[in-house]
Amino acid sequence: MTIDLAAWPHEYRPAAPGAPLLLLLHGTGGNEHEIAALAENLDPDAGVLAPRGRVTENGMNRWFRRLAEGVFDLDDVEVRADELAQFVTAALADYGVAGGAASPLIAVGFSNGANIALATAMRHPEVVPRVIAFSGMYPFGDREPAASLSALSVLLLNGASDPMAPRSSVERLIGVLVGGEARVSRIEREGGHGIAESDVFEARAWLDERRRLEGSRQL
Ligand code: MLT
Repeated sequence: MTIDLAAWPHEYRPAAPGAPLLLLLHGTGGNEHEIAALAENLDPDAGVLAPRGRVTENGMNRWFRRLAEGVFDLDDVEVRADELAQFVTAALADYGVAGGAASPLIAVGFSNGANIALATAMRHPEVVPRVIAFSGMYPFGDREPAASLSALSVLLLNGASDPMAPRSSVERLIGVLVGGEARVSRIEREGGHGIAESDVFEARAWLDERRRLEGSRQL
């Protein structure tokens, strides 16, 4: 499939030198403008690539179809993750941003956006090698990811009593990631679905740490 960037609504602004490019992925009913505002709170120097989910459910934007809350159309998850990886590849080329090992890209998703970020990274870690997932869960149901996960770094931020991203699914996610030798950091706070102030604080700390670890190389 060829991706027509002009036909896929998205926001883009370049990163300051040495700063990451955040692939910001909104939740159900959100949009690219609303989630792009999160970048300011995470890293004011960061660039922003914020596309809009291409599925609609009762007028709400989403990233993939679901059969019920928390019950995903698994074929659609895979197709949409592949499509998002193609969008990212096309956008990086078009905006003149490095891909591959030098890519500064970090996916940051909330809820349904976290789930597509995780699905895309677990199918295409060479395109999306790092993920910050706010209120995310295991996106593949009873299936396994299709790619080797050892190049992935993931930060999972979840509420302990989140009915939409239940702990059993988060634990399955961690098991698959760790089993695939991905680097996983997990923060569980009190409360439910959402992005708490403490989540933003933890995400900033993780981003700072990644910049420190990866030294002078761009993230
Ligand atoms: C999903 O559908 O990805 C999750 O249930 C979260 C959401 O409702 O967006």
